[in-house]
Amino acid sequence: MKTVSTLLLFGATGDLSHRMLLPSLYGLHVDGLLPADFRIVATARSKFDDAAFRASAVDALKDHVPADFFDDAKAGEFVSRLSYVPLDATQRDGFDRLAEKIDPAGGLAIFLSTAPSLFKPTIDGLASAGLTGEDVRLALEKPLGTDLASSREINDAVAAAFPEERTFRIDHYLGKETVQNLLALRFANSTFEPLWNSAHIDHVQITVAETVGLEGRAGYYDSAGALRDMVQNHMLQLVALVAMEPPANFDATSVRDEKVKVLRSLRAIGSDDIATHVVTGQYGNGAVGDQPVGSYTSELGKPSSTETFVALKAHVDNWRWSGVPFYLRTGKRMAARKTEIFIQFKCVPHSIFASRGARTQANKLVISIQPEENIRLLVMAKTPGLDRQGLRLREIALDVAMADAFADARRRIAYERLLLDLVEGDPTLFVRRDEVEAQWQWIDDVRAACREAGLEPRNYGAGSWGPSAAIALTERDGVHWHD
Ligand code: BG6
Repeated sequence: MKTVSTLLLFGATGDLSHRMLLPSLYGLHVDGLLPADFRIVATARSKFDDAAFRASAVDALKDHVPADFFDDAKAGEFVSRLSYVPLDATQRDGFDRLAEKIDPAGGLAIFLSTAPSLFKPTIDGLASAGLTGEDVRLALEKPLGTDLASSREINDAVAAAFPEERTFRIDHYLGKETVQNLLALRFANSTFEPLWNSAHIDHVQITVAETVGLEGRAGYYDSAGALRDMVQNHMLQLVALVAMEPPANFDATSVRDEKVKVLRSLRAIGSDDIATHVVTGQYGNGAVGDQPVGSYTSELGKPSSTETFVALKAHVDNWRWSGVPFYLRTGKRMAARKTEIFIQFKCVPHSIFASRGARTQANKLVISIQPEENIRLLVMAKTPGLDRQGLRLREIALDVAMADAFADARRRIAYERLLLDLVEGDPTLFVRRDEVEAQWQWIDDVRAACREAGLEPRNYGAGSWGPSAAIALTERDGVHWHD
C-alpha cells in the first residue's frame, strides 16, 4: 500500500484528538516521519476557521506533549499542515466542502474518532462525496459495537464502502512498544518458545489495573462496563499475543491469522461456570494513594449496577494450552496503575534440595507493560553462605528495564506507531474483522452467562486490588495474584 499524502480527521476537537492524536502527529512531524507535503484536514461540528483550529491545536500540544519535547517553532511548522472544515456528519453539505479540499488520488487516510452512531452517516457522506475510492483507507476507534450483532452492523456499514484490506481497526494496546516487544521476546529468541506451552507453563495472569475513575466519560462507561471497555478488546488482544502460534512472517495476514485462531479457541463460559470463573465488582468509597475518592455511584451521580472491575478464568482450548488457566483482571480505581503479563512456569519435577531443607519456587516471567516497561525473570539462587544449618535458596530477578536498555529512545505514545502505520498502509497492528467478531462472541457468551447466573458486582474499596472474591477465584486453584 502506498503512503498517503492527506489525513482526514473526524472528531478533531475531541478529547482523544487533543490528548493523543495531535501530540502523536506532532511527534511524527518532529521526527521527520511524515512526507514533506503531508496535510491534515481536521473536522468536527465546532465552527472554527483554520487559524482558530491551529491555535487550539498548539494549546493541546502544550498541554499534552512532554515539556522537554515541545518546541514553539516545531509546533508552528506542524500546525501549518493543519486545516479545518466544520461539518455535521448528518448533513450532506459538509462532505461536499471536504471534497473540494481533498484530492483522494494522492492517497487519503480517514480517521473516525467520533461516536459510533456517526460511523454510518459519515461513511455514507464520504461515499456520496467521492471520498471512498481505492486510494482511501479508513481507521476506526472503539467502541466498535456493544455486542456481536451491533459490531456486525458497524462492520457491514464500513464494508459497503471500504474493503477489509483498507479498514484499519484500532486497538491502541497494539501500538504500545512493550506489547510489540512481547512478539520480539517470543519470536526473536530461541530461549522461551520451547517452554511456551502446557508442558512447562502452569498458568498465565494478565492484569490491567487503573487508578483513574470515570474521567468525564460517565455516559459511555456506565453503558459499557469493564468487560466491554477493557476485556473485549485490549485484554483479549494480549491473550492472543501470548497464546498465538509463531506466524510464518511478521505481516498482517500471518500475524492476524494466528491471533484469530486463539480467539476462536477461547472456551465459552456458561452459567454453571460463573461461580468459579467470573467475579465482577464496583468500587465504593476509598483512597487511591493518600487521595480519598468517592464511590462509582457518587461519581456517576445515580445508582448503577455496571461493573468497574472484572476477574476471569479463561481457557484456550488447543494443544498448546490445554489445562493452562489464563487469569485476567482489570479495574478502575485500583491500588496501582499496572499492566502486566505474568507467566508462571511449572515447579521442578523433583527438588534435590528438599533433603537439605530448602524450598524451591516455580520460575516466573513478568512482562511489565506500564507504567514501567521491563521484563523480569524470577529464578531460584543459592543464598550466599556456608549453610551449616542447611542450604538456603531464594528467588532473585534477572531484570531488564527497557528505559535503561534503550536509554536513547524517546518514549512514544502508542498512537504514533498506529498513525504512522495508517499513513504508510501497514495493517499488521490493526484488528481484523474476524478477530473483533471472535472477541465479541466470547464476551457475549460471558455476559449472557453472568445474566443467567444473576451475577451482581461486589463492592470493593477504591484503592484496593478488587473484591475479595477475585482473590478467592485464583486461591481456589492454589494460585496467588502477582501484586
Ligand atoms: C481505553 C478505555 O480503551 O483504554 C479506558 O476505554 C481506559 O477506559 C484506557 O482507561 C486505558 O488505556 P491505557 O493506555 O491508559 O492503558
